[in-house]
Amino acid sequence: MLQKKRKQFVLSIALAALVIAVLVTSASGVLEKQAAAAPGEPLRPRPCGSTTEGGAEGPAMQPQDVCTSYAKLKGPILEPTMQYPDRYAWRTFCELNQPAPGKGGERVWQRWANQLDVFVSRPDPKHPPTWADATGATRRDRFQKRAELVAALMSHGSSEESSRQTPTSTAGPQPKYDAQECDPDTMQQVLFNRGQFDYVVSNNLWYVEGQIAAYKAQKPIVFPTDATVVKAVWRPIHPSDKPKYFWTHSKGKLYGLASFLFINKSIPTWTWASFEHIDNPCFARYEAPQDNFGVNAAGKPSAELEKMFRGFGLDPALWSRYRLGGIQTSFTDSVGRPVLLGNSIAEAGFQTTSSCTTCHARSTVGPLTNDKFFGAGRLPIFGGKFYAGNLRPQSSNGAPDSSLYYDFSTTPPALKYLQMDFAWSFACANNIGSDSNPCGTSE
Ligand code: HEC
Repeated sequence: MLQKKRKQFVLSIALAALVIAVLVTSASGVLEKQAAAAPGEPLRPRPCGSTTEGGAEGPAMQPQDVCTSYAKLKGPILEPTMQYPDRYAWRTFCELNQPAPGKGGERVWQRWANQLDVFVSRPDPKHPPTWADATGATRRDRFQKRAELVAALMSHGSSEESSRQTPTSTAGPQPKYDAQECDPDTMQQVLFNRGQFDYVVSNNLWYVEGQIAAYKAQKPIVFPTDATVVKAVWRPIHPSDKPKYFWTHSKGKLYGLASFLFINKSIPTWTWASFEHIDNPCFARYEAPQDNFGVNAAGKPSAELEKMFRGFGLDPALWSRYRLGGIQTSFTDSVGRPVLLGNSIAEAGFQTTSSCTTCHARSTVGPLTNDKFFGAGRLPIFGGKFYAGNLRPQSSNGAPDSSLYYDFSTTPPALKYLQMDFAWSFACANNIGSDSNPCGTSE
């Protein structure tokens, strides 16, 4: 009797398992079919905010949050930046990372001017930086210590707006934040192309007094359409990891390229692109990558991308380890929701509130600008709220608040801060004869 019951029990378990197995296979069959039916459709492994609870990163993304994501348009592509941003991001990535002409194995962007040679220490207006000097091989290779820069970014606060920046406790999750996890021991390089370099130097914006003069003259700052800047983030790697990374040496130490951000003036509010190595500790953890060109529905680099790599002399086995996080071309989407994009290393600690375009719109110069602290006398970098337990302040996002720039109570409205065309690197400038700006520390 007991035996029989046990047999029945075993049988029903087996049956249930079979039913579950059939259900699972047919469900995954449906998924596969969908994937097969739509090759190259957007990869949305997880929705915009990959976490629904606040994590170590900070506040959780909300259902209304939108990450950069663009539908594929039908018809001829006449404006690649706006009509097919993801493809444009990859194409520009390939153009910048293709081998530079001649010997040396460097990439196109590695021949540009290091920002440390634009915003020089002890600037002397009689001796402006020259492109030839700034791009000398030993100069342009210099690295900046990110740890120091991040500390400098967070500590300054001499501005009228800073009183609004006191930590506010918010309802909801209370993350305990440890930035180290996402942003390991990294170094960075910021490199300007010729268009960017010439504009900064010829307009005397490479030292603080020149920037204040622009404010006083109320002279609009508008970079030319060929201006491009790269921010490269490097992390120390083991020699056995060399095949997995684009790598370089600095001071005898081996570094792998972990993040690659480029901005260019192909549209008036710039395009903002974030690429990451797939081994970055927080890649795709808090913000899902948005890419409808480079990575196919199965999560593999697409055939189109591999073809593009080969066309630019890039080995697909290596370069497909880099992924597009997203490309931002607007402040908001068509219904006014803030568009978010953040790199898991460069924006570690505020990735879930990050908007490249909105934060960079805060790069300004005001009458009280000086070099004592990074960005002092300008609009503060972080306009967003603080979240309890997260030591890092958060990014503002969405459309900029015009009343930060103008006082509209007067006629005509009075200028409070002059916007510096989205280039935060201006905050790295020194006063004539001084070298106290923390951006200047290099290895
Ligand atoms: C909360 C503010 C903030 C956000 C969000 C932000 N940045 Fe920045 N960015 C800065 C600051 C401050 C600097 C200057 C210091 C440095 O080099 O890190 C900077 C520097 C840069 C530079 C060097 C050139 C320059 O003139 O600013 C690039 C390129 C850049 N960021 C790209 C991006 C991209 C792409 C994103 C979005 C994925 C982004 N940033 C998001 C604040 C921000």
